[in-house]
Amino acid sequence: MSSTSLPIAAAHQSVDTEPQSIDAPLSAAAAFLILKVKDDEASLATVRDVLGSTDDLIKNVRVRTDVGLFTCNVGIAHRAWGAITAKPAPRELTPFKEVKGAKHTAIATEGDLLYHIRAESMGVIIEFERMVLEAFGDAVIPLDDVAGFRYFDGRDLLEFVDGTANPEGLELPAATIVGDEDPDYAGGSYVVIQKYLHDMAAWRSQSVETQESIVGRKKFDNTELPDATEGQKSHKTLCTIEDDEGEHAILRDNMPFAVPGRGEYGTYFIGYCRYLWVIEKMLERMFIGDPPPLHDRILDFSRATAGVTFFAPSRKFLSDLGDA
Ligand code: HEM
Repeated sequence: MSSTSLPIAAAHQSVDTEPQSIDAPLSAAAAFLILKVKDDEASLATVRDVLGSTDDLIKNVRVRTDVGLFTCNVGIAHRAWGAITAKPAPRELTPFKEVKGAKHTAIATEGDLLYHIRAESMGVIIEFERMVLEAFGDAVIPLDDVAGFRYFDGRDLLEFVDGTANPEGLELPAATIVGDEDPDYAGGSYVVIQKYLHDMAAWRSQSVETQESIVGRKKFDNTELPDATEGQKSHKTLCTIEDDEGEHAILRDNMPFAVPGRGEYGTYFIGYCRYLWVIEKMLERMFIGDPPPLHDRILDFSRATAGVTFFAPSRKFLSDLGDA
C-alpha cells in the first residue's frame, strides 16, 4: 500500500466501526421505546429498511431542532437478531438473564428493538418517535414507551445525584465500545435496560443516614462514603467490579420517570458496555448479594418491572441493513 492511501484506509476503517451516539452527554429529556418485531417476511423487510434509514431519520429531526442535542441509539435483541440481520449474533449477546435472589428478582421481559432517544426537549423526541413508528407501520408492536426527565441537580427520584462515576474521556470508549475481541461487531455496544418503580413512602420514611449508607454517597454534596469490606455493602460498592485487570466501568444514563397522578415514580436504568458480563456481574451482586443473601438494599425500595438486553451495532452495520 502506498503511503498516501494509508489515511484513506484508516478513514474507511473508522467509518466501518463508527459507533452510534453512545457517548452523548446526559440530556434534559429522553425516551425509551421498546418494540416487538413481527416475524413474517414482509414485516422483517420493513424493519430492515427503517433500521437502515436510522441516520436519515435522525438528520431530518436534528436539522429542525434549534435546542441543541438530539441523538438516537438503536439496539437489537437476541430473539430478532438472526431474522433481521441474517448474521450470527455478537459474541456475548443472549436474552436478558433473569437474576433471582432470595428476596428480589431482576425479571426478563420482551423486546426486540430499543430506541434510546436523547434531547434537550420532549417536543423533538415525540416528533422523531412519530416518524419512526409511522415508518414501521404494522411491522412492529410497541411494548413500552417511557418518557424520562432530568430532575433537580441530576438526581434520581430517590433524590441522590445519579451518573457521577460514569467513565469519561478515553476511558469512555474503552469501557463501552466493542473492539478487536469481536472484529465483526467492532464499534457496537451492549445495552441493558431495566425499569424500576420506587416505593416512595417507604424510602422517604428512612433517615438520610440510612439512605446514604444504602447508596454509598452523601445525599447533599454527593461525596463518597468508604467502601464496606464485609457485611452489608452499599449500591456503589456492589456495582464496582474489580479484578486483576483493574476496575470494569459501564456507562449509565438513568432517567427518572413519573406519573404522579397514578402514584408512579421510577428510574429507567440504561447501561452501555463493551463486555456484557460486567453488567451481568453487577446485577448478580445487586440481586443475589455479596456475600449472599446481602442484596443491594436499594431493591427493598425499587422493584424491577422490566429487563432486556440489546446490542447497538455500529452506524455502518445499521445502515447496511437497508441494502439487505
Ligand atoms: C433503582 C435503580 C437505580 C438507582 C436509583 C441507581 C442510583 C445510583 C446512584 C445514586 C449512584 C451513585 C452515584 C453515581 O456514581 O452515579 C449509582 C452508582 C452506580 N450504579 Fe446505580 N442505580 C440503579 C440501578 C443500577 C443498576 C441496575 C446498575 C447496574 C446493573 C447500576 C450500576 C451503577 C454503577 C456502576 C454505579 C457506580 C459505582 C461506582 O462508584 O463505581 N445501578 N447508582
